Amino acid sequence: MDDDAAFIEQCRAAVERRLADLTPDRAERPRRLGEAARYALLSPGKRFRPMLTLLAAREFGAEPASALDVACAYEMVHAASLILDDLPCMDDANLRRGRATTHREFDEATAILASVGLLNRAFGVVAEAPGLSAALRAELGGRLSQAVGFTGLVAGQAMDLDDRGHDRSSAELELLNHRKTGVLLVAAAEAGAVIAGAGADAVGHVGEFARHLGLAFQIHDDLIDVQGGAEAGKDLGKDAGMTTVVSALGVDGARAALQTHLAAAEAALAAAGARQRLLAPYVIGLFEARKAAA
Ligand code: IPE
Ligand code: IPE
Ligand code: MG
Ligand code: MG
Ligand code: MG
Repeated sequence: MDDDAAFIEQCRAAVERRLADLTPDRAERPRRLGEAARYALLSPGKRFRPMLTLLAAREFGAEPASALDVACAYEMVHAASLILDDLPCMDDANLRRGRATTHREFDEATAILASVGLLNRAFGVVAEAPGLSAALRAELGGRLSQAVGFTGLVAGQAMDLDDRGHDRSSAELELLNHRKTGVLLVAAAEAGAVIAGAGADAVGHVGEFARHLGLAFQIHDDLIDVQGGAEAGKDLGKDAGMTTVVSALGVDGARAALQTHLAAAEAALAAAGARQRLLAPYVIGLFEARKAAA
């Protein structure tokens, strides 16, 4: 393993350890609620969002440790969003990360409460993040709130549920995918740059990088929905009957759109003036690995 790959692995391991520390105490009652939160959060995910935060921080010269708690907050929000996404009233999924979905393993009420608990805890983690100034913690909390809120993830999920059977224009699809998936990636990556003290222009370019990345990521996810196998670890065919980039452009068209977004993402990262030693190879590597799996 070369130094960069080893560093990336260290970051991932640090995220895993810290996430385990940040979950509810095992002795805390009601135990079932904490168990459900741990089950959802600590199940084997890619940790893509926290890795974006840590690697963006590193690109602009900060030690990843200074961004670790904020990075973990993004994974907590993501885990909370997956619990809700899988509920019967949303995608009605049985499998997530190779295991039963949280509401299947526990029950719907416990799953919803665990999601709210994780989402809430994420803001506490940002507010208490060690080594950051009070002003920075407040700014990062505001950014996280924007990403989750009524122009962000929850809005995207609501749009996703609306009129599932109706055609969507490419502009509508792009906005939907950006909101349900992209905004969290944008905020996670920007948070790393902000913690590292990058200037406003650079942060904007990092955001543009992650915006394209988010669009590529959702297209890839939609490709997995139609083409993936057991290695996806989640229910497939869930997008049947709904307009996605794959249903609109076909598999080849969607693959081409994915590559266009990846190229635009790399260009934005170059414009950000980041050192690009780790972030670009990590992201491309992730897509390569997923391509091999799909
Ligand atoms: C799945 O996210 C949901 C989408 C936004 C497409 P990931 O593909 O990052 O899922 P995990 O965290 O690795 O399980
Ligand atoms: C989910 O998109 C986006 C979220 C905000 C969770 P999908 O519904 O396609 O994600 P998967 O395929 O269930 O992981
Ligand atoms: Mg969904
Ligand atoms: Mg889903
Ligand atoms: Mg999907």
